Amino acid sequence: MKALVYLGPGKRVLAERPKPVVELPTDAVVKIGKTTICGTDLHILKGDVPTVATGRILGHEGVGIVDQVGSAVSHFKPGDRVLISCITSCGKCESCRKGLYSHCVQGGWILGNTIDGTQAEFVRTPWADTSLYRLPETADDEPFVMLSDIFPTGYECGVLNGKVSPGDTVAIVGAGPIGLATLLTAQFYAPAEIIMVDMDDHRLETARRLGATQSVNSRDGRVAERILELSGGRGVDTAIEAVGVPQTFELCQSIVAPGGVIANIGVHGKSVELHLEKLWSQNVTLTTRLVDTVTTPLLLKTVLSGRLQPLSLVTHHFSLGELMKAYDTFAQAAENRALKVVISNGRG
Ligand SMILES: NC(=O)c1ccc[n+]([C@@H]2O[C@H](COP(=O)([O-])OP(=O)(O)OC[C@H]3O[C@@H](n4cnc5c(N)ncnc54)[C@H](O)[C@@H]3O)[C@@H](O)[C@H]2O)c1
Ligand SMILES: [Zn+2]
Ligand SMILES: [Zn+2]
Repeated sequence: MKALVYLGPGKRVLAERPKPVVELPTDAVVKIGKTTICGTDLHILKGDVPTVATGRILGHEGVGIVDQVGSAVSHFKPGDRVLISCITSCGKCESCRKGLYSHCVQGGWILGNTIDGTQAEFVRTPWADTSLYRLPETADDEPFVMLSDIFPTGYECGVLNGKVSPGDTVAIVGAGPIGLATLLTAQFYAPAEIIMVDMDDHRLETARRLGATQSVNSRDGRVAERILELSGGRGVDTAIEAVGVPQTFELCQSIVAPGGVIANIGVHGKSVELHLEKLWSQNVTLTTRLVDTVTTPLLLKTVLSGRLQPLSLVTHHFSLGELMKAYDTFAQAAENRALKVVISNGRG
């Protein structure tokens, strides 16, 4: 089968690899219908994620059709249409029993990381009963590709941890797919203002179209002052960090209102200064989270009802044979006005 294989920092290839098989009774093998590329895949290619070995098939997002199941899989059978979660959970360990699937002792983020992933014709999915979600026969599968990772991430790490509430002023720093998924799910709670911050005017324009009430380009160097002005000098009730660099986390610290929340989503590779000398008296809460995907069933319902429309984040389409081109396009997102790229395996 065709698969996108990581060959060490800066190197990837579309290669021919053997079709995966059921290895454990709790496994399924899924024929990929559609997959996509995440910002995290680009981090891997930069060599930022040392757990990914040379030769690994990348990808942790996708939808498809169950091809084979192990003897212990009771909830799915060949032919079922499924969403593959980016987080694998056994459902039984102490972390899973707490809803902390991201810290499952036998799972967590393993697909396209420590085991082969979804950017291929087939993928082996461990703990299938608790890591796959059934899709209705009738539904178009494309919107659900966005539910493997970006929507649970924006919703859980940004909106829920950030305690977004009716009438609130919210700032979302970073208008990439994750920031925009946060923007769409924040609107479940009717905040009064959502201020979007990025350096890319095209992404800010998209954010305005998707419901941001204000947008600020951070290139002008006055971003903190602008946000304070926009929030009546008080600051924001929730500051959501969706970039993963020191500069944007520092910005969140300088715009949070007394009693507010800083909700971090970004993956940080460098240490960041925490300004406790200013924040100690401000009654603020700081949260961090690796997505658990505990809200996937809820998000599936919002998509099926039309309340959430993930296709608004899809900008490009490719076939599996064009995976290298899909990566080139996604890696140059600003030039190509790219958000999410969808890669189809035949007709899926
Ligand atoms: N916590 C989790 O579980 C989790 C899950 C998935 C992704 N992530 C992380 O979320 C972050 C966002 O992901 P994404 O896929 O949207 O990434 P992305 O790279 O597509 O988007 C980041 C955005 O930030 C903007 N940006 C960069 N520097 C900026 C600055 N100084 N000021 C304002 N904007 C700036 C970029 O223009 C871009 O639009 C990444 O760090 C990713 O690794 C975290
Ligand atoms: Zn991801
Ligand atoms: Zn577990």
